[in-house]
Amino acid sequence: MYDWITALPKAELHLHLEGSLEPELLFALAERNKIALPWNDVEALRGAYAFNNLQEFLDLYYQGADVLRSEQDFYDLTWAYLLKCQAQNVVHTEPFFDPQTHTDRCIPFEVVLRGIKQALVDGEKQLGITHGLILSFLRHLPEEAAFDTLKQAMPFRDAFIAVGLDSSEQGHPPSKFQRVFAKARSEGLLTVAHAGEEGPPEYIWQALDLLKIERIDHGVRAIEDERLMQRIIDEQIPLTVCPLSNIKLRVFDDMRQHNILQMLERGVKVTVNSDDPAYFGGYVNENFAALHDSLGMTREQAQRLAQNSLDARLS
Ligand code: ADE
Ligand code: ZN
Repeated sequence: MYDWITALPKAELHLHLEGSLEPELLFALAERNKIALPWNDVEALRGAYAFNNLQEFLDLYYQGADVLRSEQDFYDLTWAYLLKCQAQNVVHTEPFFDPQTHTDRCIPFEVVLRGIKQALVDGEKQLGITHGLILSFLRHLPEEAAFDTLKQAMPFRDAFIAVGLDSSEQGHPPSKFQRVFAKARSEGLLTVAHAGEEGPPEYIWQALDLLKIERIDHGVRAIEDERLMQRIIDEQIPLTVCPLSNIKLRVFDDMRQHNILQMLERGVKVTVNSDDPAYFGGYVNENFAALHDSLGMTREQAQRLAQNSLDARLS
């Protein structure tokens, strides 16, 4: 890894905790919980990490998450991620978790939350890494299910800073979740949403106007709509961009076609993030390194990207 990338203090603003489940830990948790896996070993599982689109990835990601059963499992998952943050000089993180992925398997909401939150609190005390946790709704499920999840979360209201929206984007526009986001805002929660990863610029407009989001997760397709670009620049709405994810999920064919530096130079508040690092081949610093190697990102641009991440924190 480039020392000058590690030396930059950074915030990570787009990270799915379930997507930080490395194959080694996945196998260890399967053994601990006596779960049979369809892969013979870690190498066979890694070999399955080849995707043509977001949905192919999500199918494997939800399957992988099935090994997470106990409070200790969620603690271990989160702690392993925080150790990566420490090694990479990520000083603040605002991770997502998907409660419905677990409650739909009959894992109680509080089991998931307690494990994650305890690790984050310990990370703050022992590693000096600050955090703000984001509860993300699965958009392929009905809005009614998101309302149920929000209700389950409310006794733990102080554990979160925001709600988000993730999973299968195409065919599940932000408008589907307008009411539950309004309810979350009325409880004092901030809002973010995945938009413009695979979905059209229209979904970004909806996320801004209907969900009143503070940040756009991904948002790379904003570049197809000049009026939207102007708004994002004028209002300095941050984009949490995930370069390695975009290549692995074929949003761009090749890193040399990625638009993040073009956006940066136009004055968009873009940030660099890892999304699902265990599945996409790297954490934040590997994402920075890929921008250097493939797009010629300069040190000065890296500094601006890192500063953007610190400026775009919600907490
Ligand atoms: N869940 C985990 N990673 C995701 C991504 N990149 N897009 C949508 N949902 C996700
Ligand atoms: Zn994501």
